[in-house]
Amino acid sequence: MQININDVVLSVHEGDITSWQGEMIVNASNSGLYGGGGVDGAIHRAGGPEIAEECAVIRQKQGGILPGEAALTSAGRLAFRGVIHTVGPIWKGGTAGEAAVLARCYKSSLDLACAHGVKSLAFPNISTGIYNFPKELACKTALEAVALYVRAKNPAELPLRQIDFVCFEHENAGLYGAMLGNYS
Ligand code: APR
Repeated sequence: MQININDVVLSVHEGDITSWQGEMIVNASNSGLYGGGGVDGAIHRAGGPEIAEECAVIRQKQGGILPGEAALTSAGRLAFRGVIHTVGPIWKGGTAGEAAVLARCYKSSLDLACAHGVKSLAFPNISTGIYNFPKELACKTALEAVALYVRAKNPAELPLRQIDFVCFEHENAGLYGAMLGNYS
């Protein structure tokens, strides 16, 4: 399933983001940028210790990152140009501004990718695992944030040509597949 907005192709894939083919991937990290479980663990395992070493440098310099923010490291052994680490909100029932923070994760990651001239970028389903954000609302929030971002830019100023949502869980792939068409 894919759509085109402003010459940018948005598509949905089911699988492991570390095996994705493209330029840069986004990681669902934590505020301390400590490698954890879920997609974070998979990226650190596949990329090797270099990623954690660079995360430690960011931690020492600026004390980690806040939910909604993003930071860039290399991809270690992985064949990407880099990994963008963002921190999603922990779901607390929906009254703590979680959806706005999740939308900011997508925007911050896109800003960072664009600042580095990235043409193809893959997102995991940030916050929908250990951080327990409801999957359907997370899908809607992600698609809305990315579509809004791409639509607001002049295509000549936007290096991105491909943005992929890589869903590890079949349920998320189904939600994205069903909702993506609403944003074309
Ligand atoms: N590729 C793509 N997606 C994956 C992979 C993978 N290899 N492994 C897990 N996922 C999916 C999960 O199925 C979920 O849909 O990533 C989504 C996000 O889940 P988590 O990785 O648990 O991330 P999150 O909910 O944002 O929680 C972040 O988990 O690992 C820790 O350090 C991380 O503390 C932070 C917290």
